Amino acid sequence: MKTHRLVTLLPALALGMTPVISAEAPLADFIRENLEFATAQYTHLLGQVEGKEGLPRTFEQGELKVIPPKDWTSGFFAGSLWYLFEATGKPSWREAARRYTAPIESVKNNTNTHDLGFMLYTSHGQGLRLTGDAHYREVLLTGAGSLSTRFNPAVGCIQSWNARRGWQFPVIIDNMMNLELLTWASRTSGDPKFRDLAIRHADTTIKNHFRADGSSIHVVDYDPATGAIRARQTHQGAADDSAWARGQAWGLYGYTMMARETRQPAYLAQARSIARFLMNHPRLPADRVPYWDFDAPGIPTAPRDASAGAIMCSALFELATLVPPEDAAGYRTFAIGQLRSLGSPAYRANLGENGGFLLMHSTGNLPGKTEIDVPINYADYYFLEALLRCQAGLAPKA
Ligand code: GLY
Repeated sequence: MKTHRLVTLLPALALGMTPVISAEAPLADFIRENLEFATAQYTHLLGQVEGKEGLPRTFEQGELKVIPPKDWTSGFFAGSLWYLFEATGKPSWREAARRYTAPIESVKNNTNTHDLGFMLYTSHGQGLRLTGDAHYREVLLTGAGSLSTRFNPAVGCIQSWNARRGWQFPVIIDNMMNLELLTWASRTSGDPKFRDLAIRHADTTIKNHFRADGSSIHVVDYDPATGAIRARQTHQGAADDSAWARGQAWGLYGYTMMARETRQPAYLAQARSIARFLMNHPRLPADRVPYWDFDAPGIPTAPRDASAGAIMCSALFELATLVPPEDAAGYRTFAIGQLRSLGSPAYRANLGENGGFLLMHSTGNLPGKTEIDVPINYADYYFLEALLRCQAGLAPKA
């Protein structure tokens, strides 16, 4: 069940040492150096979190911001620790991951949020994958049951947020990410109902969230009684008709994941359409790390969103495994370019800086004036995942 992909660590990196890896270094060396850096940097982050009430989310104005388990990002820190355990095989990372996974169990009965997939699958899901711990399985199944209560058959979707801002039944593109908890729950329990809901949600979202060019709208609000669309708007994007970068990345990752989980050609086609939009976008910078919105005012000086770049990068590595070899190379080459950018000094922090997070330059919610050009825990999580996915693609096939 366990696979240890980073068996030999270089001599321990000391705090204050500036990481150096040439952009031209062989890919295997580049990945190894980035994973070694991650172990050193997260050792520092663990020290910063010690004694604090909460889980690390970001670092702003010289201060580490921690959040309670009910925050939508609560699972990512534990998930990153699980990836470091996977990379190193060292029990100390497993124990750290277990420690920061445990508090998240408290959200498993929460029926007030659609984010249970994010919270539980990144923490308990990774823990189950790497340890087989039956308790994690129970927590995940309970969470899947709670998430299912938010499905409305008239709409054909899981409700994202409770009614707010005049919305009655808002569904955001991000919600695609919560479906993996449901497809997993059907696989493990044998009960098809979770997977059926995930498929209904994904089908409705293809119909109502996407534009002809492959981009997506952030929020679609439905009438919960009839399923009629009430509004198509944004919450975190630049405008209702703009392409908010992280939303596009969630869509790409979500449909790639659904293509893997269900093998339905429509989901693969949707993922490829989103990839086409993103990879060929005239306002995607040369380093392939998007501005926070593809239609942001102020481009080319608008803030970037490294988290969107990391999510997109990880998704493209997976998409490359689902298409014929002649198409895979394009996705993989593009993702490697993104990975090399994210792992370069332009985005990767110096050791001991950035509050202990790996990546700089993410943007959480620019219209809400929060988390602009900062580190964020989910950028690190998907960066680590992308490194491991890229590494897996280099391994000789058994
Ligand atoms: N709702 C998740 C995000 O901000 O991307």
